[in-house]
Amino acid sequence: MPRVTADVTANVPADVTDPRARLAVLASGGGSNLQAILDHFAALGASAPGAVVLVVSDRAAAGALDRARRAGIATTHLPARENHRLLACLEEAGVTHIALAGYLRLVPSEVVAAFRGRLVNIHPALLPAFGGPGMFGHHVHEAVIRAGVATTGATVHFVDERYDEGAVIAQWAVPVHPTDDAEAVAARVLAVEHRLYPRCVAALCAGALRLEAGRVVTAPSLPFERFVPADAPPSHSA
Ligand code: GRF
Repeated sequence: MPRVTADVTANVPADVTDPRARLAVLASGGGSNLQAILDHFAALGASAPGAVVLVVSDRAAAGALDRARRAGIATTHLPARENHRLLACLEEAGVTHIALAGYLRLVPSEVVAAFRGRLVNIHPALLPAFGGPGMFGHHVHEAVIRAGVATTGATVHFVDERYDEGAVIAQWAVPVHPTDDAEAVAARVLAVEHRLYPRCVAALCAGALRLEAGRVVTAPSLPFERFVPADAPPSHSA
């Protein structure tokens, strides 16, 4: 069950909804989270709060770029040495929101500054546990197994200048069984990522989530619950 950490009591102006969100997805790997976002927005049809208009990868061979091309979405291969061009690429494409989906590069500070509150990431653990520099992909799940914890999960959070430290939007816990290896944990976490992330991204694009003074706030007129899976109602910390 996802745990939503947003402060639902905060007062957000009613005019925050922007149905014209133009989303960029940044990915280094296979792009299954990108696919989940595309599928979810396609399922929403005319009520989708925006559209993926650009997929950026630092790896030319990233499966995410193939998925984007198949979906008819513009792609940009931006190798690490050209990371300084990222902001210009995003601006040129008229991007309004960014979702990181397995993007292994630190987002340049000027991009973080330009998109603060409109830039989110999904991490395959329950932050602040198993996060930070070097904690990506299989490293996360191997650390989970080594630590012998009984629970891990997925975390969606706003992105700031440091790896995995931005304000948490939602978390979804899954069990770690004594017989699990890192692959088994990764698969269990990925399954909930695919359910949680597209909904958080849709909520962000719709204006249902905002970042104010380092805290997540939701629009009372646009309840976050509306975006999460009906069979897994969120709980609120606020
Ligand atoms: C996911 O586990 C995500 O949490 C992490 O990187 C992985 C990306 O997988 N940030 P995919 O490329 O979306 O399949």
